[in-house]
Amino acid sequence: MAKDFETMENSNHSGNPSIHDVSDPGRRIVLRGGFSAAASALFAPLAAVSLPGCASPAGGSPLLGFTSVPVSTADAVAVPDGYVAEVIAAWGEPVGLAHAMPPFKPDASHSAAEQAAQMGMHHDGIHYVALGPGRGLLVMNHEYTDDGLLHADGMATWNADKVMKSQAAHGVSVIEVESRSGRWQMVRPSRFARRITAATPMALGGPAAGHPLMRTAADPEGRRVLGTLNNCGSGITPWGTYLTCEENFIYYFNGPEQPDAHAKRWGLRRGGAGYRWHEHDARFDATLHPNEPNRFGWIVEIDPMASAATPVKRTALGRAAHEGATVAVTRDGRAVVYSGEDARFESIYKFVSRDRIAIGGARANGTLLDHGTLYAARFDADGTGRWMALVHGQGPLTAANGFADQGEVLVKSRQASDLLGATKMDRPEWIAVDPKRGEVYCTLTNNSSRGSDKGRPVDAANPRAHNTMGHIIRWKEDGDFDGTSFRWDHFVLAGDPANPRGDAFACPDGLWMDARGVLWIQTDMSTSAMGRGDLARLGNNMMLAADVGTGEIRRFLTGPVGCEVTGVTTTPDLRTMFVNIQHPGESAGRSGSIQPGRFSTWPDGHGRPRSATVVIRRRDGGIVGT
Ligand code: FEO
Ligand code: CA
Ligand code: CA
Repeated sequence: MAKDFETMENSNHSGNPSIHDVSDPGRRIVLRGGFSAAASALFAPLAAVSLPGCASPAGGSPLLGFTSVPVSTADAVAVPDGYVAEVIAAWGEPVGLAHAMPPFKPDASHSAAEQAAQMGMHHDGIHYVALGPGRGLLVMNHEYTDDGLLHADGMATWNADKVMKSQAAHGVSVIEVESRSGRWQMVRPSRFARRITAATPMALGGPAAGHPLMRTAADPEGRRVLGTLNNCGSGITPWGTYLTCEENFIYYFNGPEQPDAHAKRWGLRRGGAGYRWHEHDARFDATLHPNEPNRFGWIVEIDPMASAATPVKRTALGRAAHEGATVAVTRDGRAVVYSGEDARFESIYKFVSRDRIAIGGARANGTLLDHGTLYAARFDADGTGRWMALVHGQGPLTAANGFADQGEVLVKSRQASDLLGATKMDRPEWIAVDPKRGEVYCTLTNNSSRGSDKGRPVDAANPRAHNTMGHIIRWKEDGDFDGTSFRWDHFVLAGDPANPRGDAFACPDGLWMDARGVLWIQTDMSTSAMGRGDLARLGNNMMLAADVGTGEIRRFLTGPVGCEVTGVTTTPDLRTMFVNIQHPGESAGRSGSIQPGRFSTWPDGHGRPRSATVVIRRRDGGIVGT
């Protein structure tokens, strides 16, 4: 989600040190170590593929074999010579429900019911689930809506139907895709096709399910909730389920004039951030239903193979403005879920399951993510760090400090992290795990509030008083992925002119490591900042490929005007890549309805710009990136 630099959430006023207070960008830690055999087995579908390196044309990285594309301001997707990029699954296309396949109407005059059978808006995290050679499912998030484009007359005549349509354009899509004669397309109808929206019934699992803080008039037991929203990053589990993350959920709620301490810590404010759902759906008016915001901010588990299965919000993983959920596996087979909280000065979390992953897929692991330990990260100035457990009764997390039980600790993960001394980060976004090296990478997209001018002095070793460019941090756990201490360093400071090995970029957000060990970096320079100041010469948002062994970074793709590039996955053979292009044509603020194609007409070349999935292949059928 491209957020305006000045208006976005900034609610952590604790006295804990920030990542800049402890940063020394000159320090590089050699992070060594291998990957366990047990964990390798769990990743076997990927590891089994033969994955050659390649000879770099410049004689540099052995992993990267393409020639960088230049910075671009064109209203188009550009990929390297020798590659082809094709568009599928744009907003408004029917997903393939057997009973309803309403075609996209270029004037956006679909009803809410039609939208609920079509691709949502603002594609984000994505994963490919193989069904067979050249055939699979794409599961993807639809982070938010631009209601200026979503309705024929934009946000004029705001009404309940528009609220329902906006809710229907949120959530998750499951679509079936196949390659026919070398070209990928959606399969319609498909028994797997599904839309999950901001109104889909879901269950709550884990220690906060049924908690008094989760109960509402519509759900007096606090165990059922309607919908998921602001689904940004995502993850996939070794047992085949999809994890979708509720990021800036608080923006959807109308808050009271005088919020209490809990509401204030979560950034609840009067009017929300302009979605205006509360005007016609009282559920989103927190002055009437103060516990409803507590039912969002979770990681939701979905079985993409079972279109009738109820999604479950896994409260044991903590409540946060979750950016993503990336799973690693310990040597003894337990799941570790890493997640960043994308808000200024918030934290990085990891969850370690109590039990081992069972053989038998989603059904056999139906409650695995309900039991385990949640931790928040503290990065110390000496290059070490600690994971601090969010466990009721331990340390300061007691009734005397306002935590009645573990459910309250989880609903109030931010307050618990504050008391534990978690490091205040510069908007942690996606996290990628390198299973071979045992390293973990996290994008810290930017933080314009960082700096001595805003009263938060930086460490003398850190030159960035105003972090507009962002950076990527990495760490390696001491021992296994469940370790409670680690060593960390910076992988790259974006825009750092001292880095001679990389193409320029800023505001890293999406991050994913493929099975060859290539780290794919996607950028989200906000539309209000793009093309100006520090970002003046960087053009549109982009995707880059990094060889973490050599540190080399090459620009692989540039997106159309006003877009964010976010979400990437491949087929198991790595010969087809799927990348999401979100909000092409976005201006600073919601689009008007008068000239919807004013800034971009991608991908159609006319009419409304539409988020869509780009399918990328090498023309010679080779492995993408080589
Ligand atoms: Fe939705 Fe943090 O980007
Ligand atoms: Ca972002
Ligand atoms: Ca993001």
